[in-house]
Amino acid sequence: MTTPTTLARRGEPGDCKSLAFPPTDTKVSKVEYPSRSVVLPPLRDHIGRHGRHRGNLLKGYSRRPRERRTDEVISGGVRLPPPAGQSWPPWSTSGPVLFAVDEPPPARPSDAGVVAPPADWKRAGGPGFVVHVDPVQESPLAFALSVAAGLDGRPRRLDARYLYDAVGSDLFDRITAQPEYYLTRAEDGLLAAGARAIRARAGLATLVELGSGTSTKTRRLLDAWSAAGPAAYVPVDVDLHFLTQACATLRADYPGLVIEGLGASYERALPVLADLTPKTLVFLGSSLGNLGWRAHAEFCGSVAAAMAPGDHFLVGVDLVKDAARLEAAYDDAAGVTAAFTRNLFARMNRELGTNIPLDAVRHVAFYDVERERVEIFAEALQSWELHLPALDRTFRVARGERILTEVSHKFRPEALVAMIERLGFKQVWSDVGDGTFGLFLFRRMATPLVTASSAGPLSGFPGRPAVDGRVLGAATPLALLGEMRARTLELLAPLGEDDLQRQHSRLMSPLAWDLGHIAHFEAQWLLHQGDAAAPGGAELYDPQATPRARRAELALPATAAIRRRMREVRHAVEEKLVTKPCGPGAATVAPHLLTLVAQHEAQHQETMLQALALRDDLPYRPAFVTTAPAATGSRPSTDSVLIPAGPFVMGTDDRTWAYDNERPAHQVHVPAFRLDRAPVTNRGYLAFMRDGGYQRQALWSAAGWRWLDETQARAPQHWRPGPAAPLDGRRRRGSAEEAAGEWHAVVFGRPTPLHPDAPVVHVSWFEADAYARWAGGRLPTEAEWEKAAAWDPTRGAARRYPWGDDGWAPGRANLDQRHLEPMPAGAFAAGSSAYGCQQMAGDVWEWTDTWFGGYPGYESFPYKEYSEVFFGQTYRVLRGGSFATRAMVARATFRNWDYPQRRQIFAGIRCARGA
Ligand code: TRP
Repeated sequence: MTTPTTLARRGEPGDCKSLAFPPTDTKVSKVEYPSRSVVLPPLRDHIGRHGRHRGNLLKGYSRRPRERRTDEVISGGVRLPPPAGQSWPPWSTSGPVLFAVDEPPPARPSDAGVVAPPADWKRAGGPGFVVHVDPVQESPLAFALSVAAGLDGRPRRLDARYLYDAVGSDLFDRITAQPEYYLTRAEDGLLAAGARAIRARAGLATLVELGSGTSTKTRRLLDAWSAAGPAAYVPVDVDLHFLTQACATLRADYPGLVIEGLGASYERALPVLADLTPKTLVFLGSSLGNLGWRAHAEFCGSVAAAMAPGDHFLVGVDLVKDAARLEAAYDDAAGVTAAFTRNLFARMNRELGTNIPLDAVRHVAFYDVERERVEIFAEALQSWELHLPALDRTFRVARGERILTEVSHKFRPEALVAMIERLGFKQVWSDVGDGTFGLFLFRRMATPLVTASSAGPLSGFPGRPAVDGRVLGAATPLALLGEMRARTLELLAPLGEDDLQRQHSRLMSPLAWDLGHIAHFEAQWLLHQGDAAAPGGAELYDPQATPRARRAELALPATAAIRRRMREVRHAVEEKLVTKPCGPGAATVAPHLLTLVAQHEAQHQETMLQALALRDDLPYRPAFVTTAPAATGSRPSTDSVLIPAGPFVMGTDDRTWAYDNERPAHQVHVPAFRLDRAPVTNRGYLAFMRDGGYQRQALWSAAGWRWLDETQARAPQHWRPGPAAPLDGRRRRGSAEEAAGEWHAVVFGRPTPLHPDAPVVHVSWFEADAYARWAGGRLPTEAEWEKAAAWDPTRGAARRYPWGDDGWAPGRANLDQRHLEPMPAGAFAAGSSAYGCQQMAGDVWEWTDTWFGGYPGYESFPYKEYSEVFFGQTYRVLRGGSFATRAMVARATFRNWDYPQRRQIFAGIRCARGA
């Protein structure tokens, strides 16, 4: 297949294959939580109460009045509330906010107005500071409703924000001082050392802190800000009590500081902050990790939306480390964290009138190494009934049952930086100290469009709607490249140095080579006008000079050095794109080169996934993969559809996204034929095998039979004999169950039962051809395939995707690496083509009967080595993309090609037959 790899000169087919389509939608509303997919409560319910790292490190500050502390009794590790009858403090988040917000505070110098909230926000505050209060406050029933919703869910969970009532907040303070809880001290050390550097980068900007709590951890920054010039501070917290106390304390300690608080959830505060610029937005205490893996990207997206170019974002996060140290940090010997968890139940007893036996609540902290997060549970040591009088509902919790109360995600610096940079930021400073904890400073970038005179707009497709053109035009080239890079880094995040450096299969490159090649290719096309001899590894990363089979011998640089090179090249490209996009001497990059580089990286992602899938010894699941199966409501479609005779327009004239081999658009007359509605399933393929498919020469082409003889192949590449798990003894030999258990597949390192309705994957063209003959059909020609996938006979025009011209969405096709395996036939009815064929895009590449060649009127571009050198009777065309193909590449005209014997591709079969 051609891929940008081969662009660099002649490479090997298969060096880069796969498509890339419209940029992925980064908005995700579903969150992986905690081990199945569960819809999280709206963001504002889950944030705003975390990250209270009021370290006791910093003396002289106490959030709460002394006398409160003496009221409390420690009993069996549980801090009990004050005696009954004493009213609980007004800052309890479940009750109505009693704080006086109607009385405007006395006018003070700080009333100058740093923030301009909507007119209906109340003004509160105290001497010398203002607090703006969101009129939208939580309903008193919210706690009870949230508990009921969490206990109705499976697995059960409770909303972590309710951990932080007055007792809980106090316990949390004490957690931060425990010897095992290193986070607060590590962060404070980094802040102490880095505050001046951060201020120097950020310049004269208002300091805004999300989840400010008592603002203790912020003092390092406030010191640096105050020392450098006039300074203003905007703490944001839903808890008015803490907020006001913090402002009052800071007022006394920082006489020159302008202080203006926002009493609101992050979600409500961020839009208000959008007009405040320049600002430095601070989010500390690894609170980002409490949002959930997908929600934290979403959260950073709302942060990005509230930032103007030149604003800064400072994030402090805990880093991935060994499980023992992490579990100790969340289960200290003194039992404070356990008491913190138990307090949630004590609070339910206090405020909701439940009667939970607190000594039957066990705190459990578990580090999930695969998901890279600490999960905190309350385990029931005996069964109990939980009655919520306010809602008149009763729940039974079984003995041993675990209720999730919090997750604390741990980060890898590269993945975090990638995730945030893809949103339009650029990292400008960071400190990860000894690798325990990390502080990262990002600058919000301008978002230049490549619309400068010399470059021309990124237009859509002549003859086809400008879907991708619009996306690219709107999303900006930087966002497009950033999106690709983010995924590349996320894909690598779970891998160690040896995984990256070793060539695990002669068919594939060491992954580090792919990375170096991605960087080199980007430098070649975006910095050096396509010069393959561009400095930085011209020879090493030339696919022709070092064919895959020889890449094991290469002395590759250490992965850290390769990553550095990737960053350096990207930064140089960013400079080029950002520098005066208009006006004379504008540095611009031709749109087709941007899409080329982005698609190249996308295609290498699929190549790297192919390499990873070849490893039996590496269970691999990167963080972006969704484990929940796609809806499988509809029945598997095993029938075929009729495609009546008639002409259609094949290919495209688009020059921005399409490769030379997809051009020009031309009319092809296709006689009537039938095409399978869905790809061939494992069930169908097993029937072929059980019918002697691999033994009957008559089913095979001559070359196929020779291949079979040489390789002794007897099943698809990743199939292994026997069931995925030992058969239980009761299954009788020869039974249907045993037949299904005759084989299993290794799916990214995990032995996995074959799903009978899922498309068969990892077959060669020879196998596909033999199967089709056995099934009484044949493989479709490329023209037949494209007509069935893209032609809309009603409009008399081709669609960009089988379902239409709109971009990909998860319900339309199994694309974009959301799942790392095919989904059952029939699972994507919403992605049907005009003729009713399903799963033409995504799931598995489909072998066609056609040799790779040029369309009538073909012209090579940017030069011959891209496609033309592969034309002839050597490579067969594959169509449609797989689950590992980025949606950005998956247009219906995209062509992939490879040797007929190749099986590492995520390739399957769809049969055609005469009408
Ligand atoms: N942001 C803190 C963290 O993830 C919150 C936290 C620390 C926490 N310890 C806890 C939350 C115990 C629940 C239970 O480290």
